[in-house]
Amino acid sequence: MAWTAGLVGAGLVYWFVWVMGAAEVKGKRAVDLKMGSITRDKVQDKYTQYWSFFRRPKETATTQASADKVNRARAHNRKAGLDAQCEVVCGNFMAMPFDDASFDGAYSIEATCHAPRLQDVYGEVYRVLMPGRLYVSYEWVTTPLYRADDPAHVEAIHGIERGDALPGLRRQDEIASIAQEVGFEVVQELDLALPPSLPWWTRLKMGRLAYWRNSLVVRVLTLLRIAPKGVVEVHEMLYETAQHLTLGGETGIFSPMHMVVLRKPVADAAE
Ligand SMILES: C[S@@+](CC[C@H](N)C(=O)[O-])C[C@H]1O[C@@H](n2cnc3c(N)ncnc32)[C@H](O)[C@@H]1O
Repeated sequence: MAWTAGLVGAGLVYWFVWVMGAAEVKGKRAVDLKMGSITRDKVQDKYTQYWSFFRRPKETATTQASADKVNRARAHNRKAGLDAQCEVVCGNFMAMPFDDASFDGAYSIEATCHAPRLQDVYGEVYRVLMPGRLYVSYEWVTTPLYRADDPAHVEAIHGIERGDALPGLRRQDEIASIAQEVGFEVVQELDLALPPSLPWWTRLKMGRLAYWRNSLVVRVLTLLRIAPKGVVEVHEMLYETAQHLTLGGETGIFSPMHMVVLRKPVADAAE
């Protein structure tokens, strides 16, 4: 009897979590239930972030093995057979532990939006790049469609900033001038979110059913102490942020992939 009840229960949970949810949110984003535990150390370590956007083929950079994320990234590199080509270094992109003019290229993908001042990170990239070399970045920006006098626009943009811990989104037309301010030549600027690109936000859309399912699962896991305290609130926050990002994408007021290609002028070699 107990076995039958157990089996039926497990079947119901499976149906509720995977079959019903999948039917409703096919191809869309769901909350990741594989989350690791969030320890106090990790929370306190949030400013010692890792970054992995510099590659020095066949060369090793100095490393600090303290951050767990760095070790994980190295393990992935080893698994992919890339450890001889790519070194992951723990550091702050606004004060990089590298010599001047020591890189052949640089790129950042949706990361520099976290810098309180874009000048600080662009200035550092400029410093470590060799003259004549390129830097490409994807910036999170508000587009010219954004209206500061439209409360719905303001709420969506504030929601994105809050949910993604951003110091404030920059305007699309600010990026090139900031790059020029630190010395870069602007080679190309292109909003890759615009057509013919497919809408990037559709993966973030989540129906009410999927939301309630995930919410219930997260609550049960927290109650059973499998998930750490606070995960319910994090789930809530991520759901709200996904709604704001979706609105930002649908209205076209926000782009997460405004691409800029910048060159450090060759003339800088003589300075
Ligand atoms: C939205 S994620 C983008 C991640 C990256 N594009 C990727 O695909 O893995 C933002 C990244 O910026 C990094 N970040 C934020 N502030 C940083 C800082 N001051 N120095 C270095 N990395 C930073 C975070 O650690 C995070 O990995």
